[in-house]
Amino acid sequence: MTSTSSKAVRIDQHGGPEELKLVEVQVGEPGTGEIRIRHKAIGLNFIDVYQRSGLYPSPMPLQLGMEASGVVEAVGQGVTHLKVGDRAAYASQPPGSYCEVRVMPAKCVCRLPDAISFETGAAMMLKGLTAQYLLRRTLPQGGLKEGDFVLFHAAAGGVGLIACQWARAMGLQFIGTAGSDEKCVLAKAHGAAFVINYNTEDFVARVKEITGGQGVKVVYDSVGKDTFERSLDCLRPFGLMASFGNASGPIAPFSPGILGPKGSLYVTRQTLFTHIATRESTQAMADELFDMVTSGKIIIRIDQRFALADVAQAHRALEARKTTGCTILTL
Ligand SMILES: NC(=O)c1ccc[n+]([C@@H]2O[C@H](COP(=O)([O-])OP(=O)(O)OC[C@H]3O[C@@H](n4cnc5c(N)ncnc54)[C@H](OP(=O)(O)O)[C@@H]3O)[C@@H](O)[C@H]2O)c1
Repeated sequence: MTSTSSKAVRIDQHGGPEELKLVEVQVGEPGTGEIRIRHKAIGLNFIDVYQRSGLYPSPMPLQLGMEASGVVEAVGQGVTHLKVGDRAAYASQPPGSYCEVRVMPAKCVCRLPDAISFETGAAMMLKGLTAQYLLRRTLPQGGLKEGDFVLFHAAAGGVGLIACQWARAMGLQFIGTAGSDEKCVLAKAHGAAFVINYNTEDFVARVKEITGGQGVKVVYDSVGKDTFERSLDCLRPFGLMASFGNASGPIAPFSPGILGPKGSLYVTRQTLFTHIATRESTQAMADELFDMVTSGKIIIRIDQRFALADVAQAHRALEARKTTGCTILTL
């Protein structure tokens, strides 16, 4: 068995960005169902912060990172959809994308269309597939139709700016929140029909005003602790609260009893990894995302680039709400 060495970013214990250590690791040959991929660029995601801090605990040591693009260097037995030399990109468990080269399960790795650059591929897979499953698969009773109102928090972030554009293409009345006036301008420029600065405005009152007192059909909420309860008050009867993140901290326990008087509401907690559990669902979702990007309906904004060795700076910027759009780590 041959092995190759790779720079990688690892943590030995949960904690702050100072725990991110650049180390040298040995990478072997892929086993059954696996590939070895040499990365060209790596995507940064908020889940990396949860895994680093311990909000999502993991056994140690842990090589972080869930998203990247690169070239397939070796293919294990049983892998039929990829071959050596293919351009590829992925959003995938287990973590480990913060490196130059890795061995990983092939199931979630997709061939990257030639029209999509490695940097765009690295930036868009986890965030774009998330926007896909939220707007296309996480639906209220009766589905979503043109003209329906939805509320989407953190609309100027990585997932947020993709969702703005996807919702515009679907003809939705997308109400986006963001933490500054500049971020609101950005969300609007990417397709949000309405924007609310939730640091200076009462977003419940504004949603009621925008929807003529009706409320929205779905709230897509990745902010968590700071917005959850008020998000419920933005929903119309039978509306769907789709919680998918905790950027401000985890949601406090609540009684289902509160959902009745607020209008027989539905609440779900979604994660991408359920949606991409099979090769077939991953490819179907990725094909839709690739179509949206290659047709120009969605532009993937990479607003920040950091060298892999500067990953701690990247985490600090993301946690301090200083980023917009996508962030990549370069090699
Ligand atoms: N469940 C899933 O399948 C799934 C998949 C992907 C992402 N997510 C979640 O979706 C969210 C967006 O992910 P992303 O990687 O694209 O990140 P991002 O949106 O680029 O960054 C997070 C944004 O959250 C907002 N935020 C609100 N309160 C915050 C706080 N106290 N601290 C830090 N940020 C805060 C900030 O925007 P403002 O300044 O505008 O408030 C910040 O820019 C994250 O919560 C992530 O965990 C979930």
